Amino acid sequence: EKAGYKHFMLKEINEQPRAVRDTTLGRVSLDSGEVFLPDLQLTREDIQKATSLTIAACGTSWHAGLAGKFMIERLARIPVDVDYASEYRYRDPIPGSLGLLITQSGETADTIAAQLEMVSKGTPTLAICNVVGSAITRKASGVITTNAGPEIGVASTKAFTAQLTALFTLALYLGQQRGTVTPQQSKQYVAELAEIPRKLEEILRSVDDQCSELAKSFSTARDFLFLGRGIHYPIALEGALKLKEISYIHAEGYPAGEMKHGPNALIDETLPVVCIATKDPADPTSVLKYEKTLSNIQEVTARSGRVIAIATESDPIEHSHLTGLVEHTITIPQAPELLLPILEVVPLQLLAYHIAVRRGCDVDQPRNLAKSVTVE
Ligand code: F6R
Repeated sequence: EKAGYKHFMLKEINEQPRAVRDTTLGRVSLDSGEVFLPDLQLTREDIQKATSLTIAACGTSWHAGLAGKFMIERLARIPVDVDYASEYRYRDPIPGSLGLLITQSGETADTIAAQLEMVSKGTPTLAICNVVGSAITRKASGVITTNAGPEIGVASTKAFTAQLTALFTLALYLGQQRGTVTPQQSKQYVAELAEIPRKLEEILRSVDDQCSELAKSFSTARDFLFLGRGIHYPIALEGALKLKEISYIHAEGYPAGEMKHGPNALIDETLPVVCIATKDPADPTSVLKYEKTLSNIQEVTARSGRVIAIATESDPIEHSHLTGLVEHTITIPQAPELLLPILEVVPLQLLAYHIAVRRGCDVDQPRNLAKSVTVE
């Protein structure tokens, strides 16, 4: 049932091209660029009237929500709040016009509690969920199903990339209904989205050996830092969570620009720092962000930190500039800024996996954790 893979986690990492493809299947038109999400049960008027959106989720699903905020704010121009579902109901929250729960299982007690809180305040809830008929989908007024298929490994992988895919289609759909994206932009985005499964296949082919090689020199580290800016920061958080939960190495995700406000004090020659330094050359804010991230990398190397960079394919001069700075670079294909997270998380998953295997950890069943957390 592991289809020849040593662990469910590795099998599920390798299923991501299929999971992403199935999550967009029948929901986007390459010809017109239109997105169809009838199960959301929202009218154009509902969408146009919405003035804010509140996302609640836990763990990896919360990281997807943080990335989703960038997608929805950029494409649909609706302000988005993202909450830990486990914190939500302890502060008399003010929900937005719409609530959105993100959950693989649909049975997470904290997320159910957040949904009840929203519903009790009269806010309709939407769910992005991988299990049809689960508790959260039954209570939701609209659903986007992630078609990742059953996820067995406790550490979430394919459900996460499917959630990012669903959030991207949601953002584009809301943008189309609100008129904040042009038909031309929509067509381009849908075409780029359709390329993601092929790019994931390319990454799976090219980075597995590199990650297993890196695991040799980094599996004995005591701590790890993961850095990213903008939409890449939630991916840094996700990289750190994957490593923590399956290898038991302490890891933190940090916004790259916050390092100088404290955490720089941690850097020494024993600290591996994974920096997400990807960019979309067609997007000026992405380029600016990339340049700032490069100077953050310089700050780490100047303090003898050991940098592993995740970068996009770029011209040779620029590439040599980056590789001259860092100990190792993992290169991934280019994509629009909002779609890069789906690609850049894969090397982080594989790095965590290979480090955990080297350390002899039980990858599919980490200690103290359950696949579905049904207590608050
Ligand atoms: C981490 C992980 C957990 C879950 C969290 C929410 O790899 O799997 O952090 O993401 O418990 O679970 P769902 O998405 O089922 O609500």
